[in-house]
Formats: sequence, structure tokens, C-alpha cells
Amino acid sequence: FWATVQQGPEDPILGVQDKFNADKDPKRVNLGVGAYRDENGKPWVLDSVLKAEDILQKKKLNKEYLPITGAADFTKLASELAYGKESKPIVEDRIAVAQSISGTGALRIATGFLSFHYTGPQVVYIPNPTWGNHIPIVEQTGMKSARYRYFDKKTVGLDFEGMKEDIEAAEPGSIILLHACAQNPTGIDPTKEQWKELSILLKQKQHLALFDMAYQGFASGDVSGDAFAVRHFVEQGHQIILCQSFAKNLGLYGERAGTFSMVCSSKEEKNRVLSQVKRVIRPLYSSPPLHGAQLVATILGTPELLELWLTEVKKMADRIIDMRSKLYDLLVKLETPGEWGHIKSQIGMFSFTGLTPEQVTALAEHAHVYMTMDGRISMAGLNDHNVQYFAESMSKAVKG
Ligand code: LMR
Repeated sequence: FWATVQQGPEDPILGVQDKFNADKDPKRVNLGVGAYRDENGKPWVLDSVLKAEDILQKKKLNKEYLPITGAADFTKLASELAYGKESKPIVEDRIAVAQSISGTGALRIATGFLSFHYTGPQVVYIPNPTWGNHIPIVEQTGMKSARYRYFDKKTVGLDFEGMKEDIEAAEPGSIILLHACAQNPTGIDPTKEQWKELSILLKQKQHLALFDMAYQGFASGDVSGDAFAVRHFVEQGHQIILCQSFAKNLGLYGERAGTFSMVCSSKEEKNRVLSQVKRVIRPLYSSPPLHGAQLVATILGTPELLELWLTEVKKMADRIIDMRSKLYDLLVKLETPGEWGHIKSQIGMFSFTGLTPEQVTALAEHAHVYMTMDGRISMAGLNDHNVQYFAESMSKAVKG
């Protein structure tokens, strides 16, 4: 049956993990996948999550199916976290929301729904560069993907003029995918003023804003601050689509907890939209998993746990910020050719170092250091035990 099936390429991000796993050198460093590691390089199950687990255990809940759109307490609390409790569409009950298999699943529901129901151009504009999974998610539903300029190699910053030009040039009513905060892979976000300009531009062009929010709280440690773009667009009347993930900010990677939501113009429209969202989800996976949603709902719905989580998400953000400045100081001390200020100014899980594919390969081969080929490093993979070794190895690779 399968004689004609060709070998597929490795996943550009998850494939790095396989290479790291195959390397048994004690010095090995994994800066590939964006998953938080503590100061000893170990995965961290948050205390707020452990406490929520205890509460759930005591409740002895059953394991019945969730509704197609997921757990209602979870989707309500998750939406309030993203949009803000006082957000007009929340108060007016006109957000169509469904629990999703984390951020990827939310994006897949989005493109599934859009491919059936969007009457505007079936093109999703994606920043260049972007997260490696965006294009396949869009294209698997038969929609087209196009790119808008985002990263300026010369300034190692945002190419805001290029971004605006490309969004302006897109056919009116195009779908524009925006990273809500902590852009992956660059770690470079528009400023508040730039977001305001983008909101005006998208409105003028009647584009549809599709937000991918995988790092709320993780970028700055402030969950409201990181939701600025989403909340501003909604305040300005955009009927956004939002894909929300709890993988990073609650450390629930494998639990696959997230939401897909759409701001509608009325409650009646919301109900119609949701009836079609269900028709996208049901043949895909029927209904979402229970446990992660129960954990998130318990944390967000219990004041002491919410408070604890807010300190924990800040702790993760702060440790990463500390690693940024340590890495920067070391690279400068080692007289590494180039300008490394971007390592400190970029935000979120990643730094887009500017290392070339040759340097990335050399680091894996000679120093057992692993990262994606675009030179992105997961800052969370660095800690006080390995940052010196990494800086020395990186410096050596840059010097050639
Ligand atoms: C990443 O970019 O490393 C993470 O978002 C994990 C993933 O699924 O790619």
C-alpha cells in the first residue's frame, strides 16, 4: 500500500529534541523546543498546578465526555483572562469560545472554520519569520498562506514600515495572523503605539485579525500587559479571532489546554457561529480532554491559586530576563564579534541570536549545543550551570 510514500522531513522544532536526546555527552545543552526549565535545567510543574491537582483529586470527579466546546467554567475564565473581565464583548456575551487542544488546536479550528465560512480572501498573512507550525496549519485546510515582512536583519529589530506596507498591499478583507506578544521566533514585538497604528490600518483595510497568544504573562510577567494588543484591538471594535494556549504560562505543555474564540457582533450571531464551530470540532476530535481544563479552571477560579500562579509566571519571566543579561555580559566579556544588545531587548521564551545555519551546525557537532536552524534559542534552556559554557561555545562559533 505504502510503497510510494516518501520520507518526510523532520519537524524543524521538535526534531531538535530528537537530536538532543540521541547525544549522551554530559555537557549537552538543549535550546530547541520552547519549554520552560528551572535553574537546574529541569521541567517545572508549578506549585499552583500541584495544589490544583490536590483539589481535583479530593473531588473525585468522573471522567465523562466534555461537551464539544469544552468545559464552560474553563472557557469563561480563560476568556476573561485574555480579554479582561470588563471587556465589552464579554459583558455582552458575544464571544464564541471553544476549548481547544492548546494553541495548535485553536489555530486548526480557526483555519477549519475560516475555510468553510469566510467569504473574504482565503489567504492568511503570516509574519516572516514565524513559528514553524503556522504555515502547515493554514495550508492543511486548503487555505493559502502569504507572508508579511516582520524582521529587519540590519537592525535586528522590527521592520515596521515593511510590515505596514505588506498589510496595506494585501487584498481588503485578508486574514492577518498576529503574535499577541513575545513573537516566536524573534522575541520582538510592536510597541503599544505601533499596535495602535496596526489596529487602524487593519480596520481601514477591513482585514480580519487572527491573534495567536501563546505567551500571556510569559513575556513580561504581567498578564494584563501582555494582553495589550488583543484588548486594544477589541476595544477598537475589531472582531478578532483569538487562539490561546496555557502550555507555557501554566507549564501545562502535555495537557493541551487552550481556547479558540471569536468576537461576534451580537449574542445571536455568537450562537450561530458556535453551532458551526462545533461542526468543525466534532469530526476532528469529537470533544476536548478534561484534565488540563480542570486544572486551569481551578487555578483561575480560586483566588489564592490565582495569586500564586501570577507570582510563578513572573518568576519564570524574570529568570529568563536574568539569563538574557548574563548571556549578553558573557558574550561581550568574551569579545564576541558583533552587537548582542538584542539578546537583552528581545522578550519572551526565545532569542533570535542571528547565528547562521553553519554556526548552528558547528555548535551541535563540536559543543553538543542544540537549537533550531534559524538560530533561535530557547532562553529557558540556559541556567547558571550552563550559561558560561554556552557563551564560550557560541563565541567560538561566531569567531569561526
Ligand atoms: C516552540 O516554538 O518551540 C514551541 O511553541 C513548541 C512547539 O510546539 O513548536
